[in-house]
Amino acid sequence: MRNRRAALAAIAGAVSLALFLTACGQDSEGGSKEDKGSAKGGTIGIAMPTKSSERWIADGNNVKKDLESKGYKTKLVYGEDDPDQQVSQIENLITQGVKALIVAAIDNKSLNNVLQQAKDAGIPVIAYDRLILGTPDVDYYASFDNEKVGRLQATYIVDKLGLESGKGPFNIELFAGSNDDNNTKYFFNGAMSVLKPYIDSKKLVVRSGQTELTQVTTLRWDGATAQRRMDDILTKSYKSARVDAVLSPYDGISIGVLSALKSDGYGSGDKPLPVLTGQDAELASVKSIIAGEQTQTVYKDTRELAKVASNMVDAVLNGKKPEVNDTKTYDNGSKVVPSYLLQPVSVDKTNYEKVLVEGGYYTADQLK
Ligand code: GAL
Repeated sequence: MRNRRAALAAIAGAVSLALFLTACGQDSEGGSKEDKGSAKGGTIGIAMPTKSSERWIADGNNVKKDLESKGYKTKLVYGEDDPDQQVSQIENLITQGVKALIVAAIDNKSLNNVLQQAKDAGIPVIAYDRLILGTPDVDYYASFDNEKVGRLQATYIVDKLGLESGKGPFNIELFAGSNDDNNTKYFFNGAMSVLKPYIDSKKLVVRSGQTELTQVTTLRWDGATAQRRMDDILTKSYKSARVDAVLSPYDGISIGVLSALKSDGYGSGDKPLPVLTGQDAELASVKSIIAGEQTQTVYKDTRELAKVASNMVDAVLNGKKPEVNDTKTYDNGSKVVPSYLLQPVSVDKTNYEKVLVEGGYYTADQLK
């Protein structure tokens, strides 16, 4: 009897404990129901760097659309290229209880504290296009083969100038991206791996003498900053010479460089515009390529990047391993971040219709 009563009491205790746990939102395995059951329908925080460039607007919209089609809600914020603002935006997203974060960093080293907060709250973090440095609290990285972007730009210059068939010497000037963006050195090193042999053999001459990454960066990828630097170079180093090529890592910079060149009389008379590269296939630059001004850009399909990042979030929240294709290249100083890298494509006047219009990135009308 005694035993039976004890057994019943034990059962009753177990039942009420189970009820109590259920009421608290816990399941019997100790995890919270919220974590397991309702990742779908949960909110994902998306922190993008700036609205000043159309690519990030497209990125934000594409990520939002993909996540919503998978049943998530989203909160999309833009940091106006201000690192402090981005930190407080991410803090707010954490406070609002997002289930995961997708972050395209403004300053790759400013996010360590806030990502620690994300980690403490159990929120996984995907670095979007730009790797976040110096923290273990970044789970995956979605981007493109960034080194290849630089190689595509430089190879384009080499081909256009005919350097391989022995032509030259030619004058070239070099531009790089923002020094607080991890991609900058990948783009620049990729390009220099192709250009350096010609610089060493003097088939390419950098009359400004500015060949080190630290001399050629452009804070926040700002076109006006690039324009001022190009103005300065033209004034100081090209009084009696012509620049034949400009390595530009990004369309916004290319447009700035182009303005400086045109103000100096390039593009008319006996001063043809130099070969001028770019990146992102932004509308203004594709139009400029069609008009014969900017020469090339590197197209990165942001629709695909958005898909990769959304799939990563979906996998992580469902306890699965996201698909990655690179586990070696992206060491952020704290760990090698497992990455999925997409392929960039070189675009110029000869293939923009096939790649951009037939590929559905732009309509023919948008390019008019
Ligand atoms: C980089 C990105 C480039 C370009 C640049 C300026 O991080 O990889 O494609 O968009 O920022 O926004």
